[in-house]
Amino acid sequence: MCGIVGYIGNNDAKEILLKGLEKLEYRGYDSAGIAVSNEEGVHVFKEKGRIADLRKIVDDEVFAPTGIGHTRWATHGVPSQVNAHPHKSASGRFTIVHNGVIENYDLLKKEYLPNQELKSDTDTEVVVQLIEHFVENGMNIKAAFVQTLKLLKGSYAIALLDDQNKEVIYVAKNKSPLLVGLGDSFNVVASDAMAMLQVTNKYVELVDKEIVIVEKSGISIETLDGEVISREAYTAELDASDIEKGTYPHYMLKEIDEQPLAIRKIIQEYQGQDGKLTIDSAIVEAVKNADRLYIIAAGTSYHAGLLGKQFIEKSAKIPVEVHVASEFGYNMPLLSEKPLFIFITQSGETADSRAVLVHVKELGYPTLTITNVPGSTLSREADHTLLLYAGPEIAVASTKAYTAQMAVLSILADVTAKSKGYEPEFDLIHELGIIANAMEVIFEEKEDIEKIASEYLATTRNAFFIGRGIDFYVGLEGSLKLKEISYIQAEGFAGGELKHGTIALIEDGTPIIALATQESVNLSIRGNVKEVVARGANPCIISMKGLEMEGDRFIVPAVHEMLTPLISVVPLQLIAYYAALHRGCDVDKPRNLAKSVTVE
Ligand code: F6R
Repeated sequence: MCGIVGYIGNNDAKEILLKGLEKLEYRGYDSAGIAVSNEEGVHVFKEKGRIADLRKIVDDEVFAPTGIGHTRWATHGVPSQVNAHPHKSASGRFTIVHNGVIENYDLLKKEYLPNQELKSDTDTEVVVQLIEHFVENGMNIKAAFVQTLKLLKGSYAIALLDDQNKEVIYVAKNKSPLLVGLGDSFNVVASDAMAMLQVTNKYVELVDKEIVIVEKSGISIETLDGEVISREAYTAELDASDIEKGTYPHYMLKEIDEQPLAIRKIIQEYQGQDGKLTIDSAIVEAVKNADRLYIIAAGTSYHAGLLGKQFIEKSAKIPVEVHVASEFGYNMPLLSEKPLFIFITQSGETADSRAVLVHVKELGYPTLTITNVPGSTLSREADHTLLLYAGPEIAVASTKAYTAQMAVLSILADVTAKSKGYEPEFDLIHELGIIANAMEVIFEEKEDIEKIASEYLATTRNAFFIGRGIDFYVGLEGSLKLKEISYIQAEGFAGGELKHGTIALIEDGTPIIALATQESVNLSIRGNVKEVVARGANPCIISMKGLEMEGDRFIVPAVHEMLTPLISVVPLQLIAYYAALHRGCDVDKPRNLAKSVTVE
């Protein structure tokens, strides 16, 4: 969701900014722009659509050593050239890019800028006009910037150019992610380190309600109250090749294929020198001390949380509740005496999850974030972090992060259980190794899975996923994958639930994808399939070796019963991928979606 880059140095900023924006494309956007500053002034180029469209209108002749850039995911105002960032103030002196949502922009406009005509429908334009308003009323730029930030309610990451002081980019953040990167005679600004890895791997984290003066020779950080802050830089442990597609046609396919690697990496990272699984003892103590765990997450991460509950309750015997982050604030459950809040988030930036984190921290409860992104906001702000080690996930549809989340949750469950003195029922390292191998076996069947996608989903309007027990949760994930990238209306249901209403939607040929990987419910889920087949549905049963029956469409290798979701989701990811391809959809950048959902 929206991305920011900035550069100040001696080289031409244009290409660095455009390349940076390309690296942020994965976050989701509908327009993009850059502003570059040189002796002639600030030149703004912006366009609706892709970075490729923006490239076409950028004037190659302009050389400018300073600039800011933005990818916009529309919130206030439709995606258009006018609403695209950067935005200039009325006089043209100030130019801004902004991520986030300014909740009180309308009030600020009425109070401070009643007669100001705005060019765009964005909340952002109010911010840049407000800065100019304070400067016109006698403040220097820094004071005007701070004064404006103090008035803003909501979330923001901001980079600002002043045409009268070309040596500085002014930067600030609140709730939205932003980093400053350090170079030799240049510095950069970026929503995430991947964007500017092309020029530096040294970054400084920014904290909410600070401003940063970024010059080519250095940076200075202050709080909004003027207290000077010194903060060490860190090295982003990212390999540029991790964020390239290589020979793959799509990131999603690459990331699906990377799952065995991610599982093996997780085993390695969580294995102690004695060969046993190990987790930071402070985390294990925090889990053991809790009388109930509250998992908070959104989308795919929420689906991983549902399975995490099963792992933890079965192995460690601690009660777990799983909550959709965006609803938690309204439907806050009666909390237990000693809760531990666990945030599952691939990006570590999801605003809905962060809102809960901020709230429960205010209430004084302990917190743990499980994330793929070290140094992300939810990682920094929680008491503890467990990393997924899945490597950067670029495709909007989450795949390897989901299986990594389940693997890490199973390790958390296992290590906690052992620490509580429970004898494990199985050797988790061994079983996860089997999972990684089984994933590779499934990859050999891609052609067959592609056929499933074209047979069942090439033209359908809708599709249903059913399962019982943990298969139900995998069905939820399978249906989310399918709908988000192929735009087929897909829903997941508990096998027994369809007949309580949804069966009315079954028509001749409606695809029903049924999961049958659990011995205890194998016959009942097949009974549910018969019910829908009797009403014309076109069933596609995905079962597990040892439980298969005649007519099953795809059989996954046998793995431990509790860990089947890590394997049964793989054909569903591939079915979604091929269905989207068959339907001509943009697999990696589905419409309306953003990878990193940084607004509530
Ligand atoms: C779906 C998907 C989303 C995310 C959700 C939460 O493929 O990726 O549903 O899972 O937006 O994001 P994170 O995990 O970054 O908090």
